[in-house]
Amino acid sequence: MAIRSTLPPIDFIRMRRSVMAANITEPGPTPDELKIIIDAGLRVPDHSRCGPWRIQIIGKKGQFSLGELYAELFAAENEEANEDMIEYWRQRPTTAPCLLAITCYPNQDKIHKVPLIEQQMSVGAMCQNLLNGAHALGYVAQWLTEWPSYHDNVKRRLGHDPSIKILGFIFIGTAVALPKERNRIGAGEIVSNWDG
Ligand SMILES: Cc1cc2nc3c(=O)[nH]c(=O)nc-3n(C[C@H](O)[C@H](O)[C@H](O)COP(=O)(O)O)c2cc1C
Repeated sequence: MAIRSTLPPIDFIRMRRSVMAANITEPGPTPDELKIIIDAGLRVPDHSRCGPWRIQIIGKKGQFSLGELYAELFAAENEEANEDMIEYWRQRPTTAPCLLAITCYPNQDKIHKVPLIEQQMSVGAMCQNLLNGAHALGYVAQWLTEWPSYHDNVKRRLGHDPSIKILGFIFIGTAVALPKERNRIGAGEIVSNWDG
């Protein structure tokens, strides 16, 4: 059962952590909750209403089918592949109850005004909002690309032309175990003042 965060929004964002996909289990969000998570995802800056985001909800049947493809590709393309490794990739897309594939379909009519990078960043921002939306409902999530995001056959299987970018897979569900805090790059390392 998901437990909604009672933290004030600023603390909620400051404390956010991913949970590794392997540690995400049932239950996942209900269809109504997933709709809320997606609505949260879509509340992102979108220069000139390009709308480059695409979300595919990959249900259990699709997850198993994707897993078969991963196993097949991994076995064929890795000389060192053994049974355990192949099985790992077979199960990889099935580990969490809810899996979303996120692609960027750049708005070509507006690309002269809103460059590709801006449209891709908006899709990335959506991914982050999806994580926050899932966490806000008491679920946990992880955003992974891994090799399948860059594989043309995975793109084709999902119905995309290889020129389309998969910006990641979002795994959502309930934590088996809550993660320890991660050693983070702090503001002191990346913030500077610029006074002209
Ligand atoms: C675009 C993108 C792709 C990612 N792909 C992977 C990946 O393939 N494998 C991985 O271990 N982590 C990947 N991560 C990192 C995890 O999503 C996550 O940030 C990490 O597990 C650390 O957890 P944290 O979000 O609590 O810092 C990716 C992050 C981003 C933004």
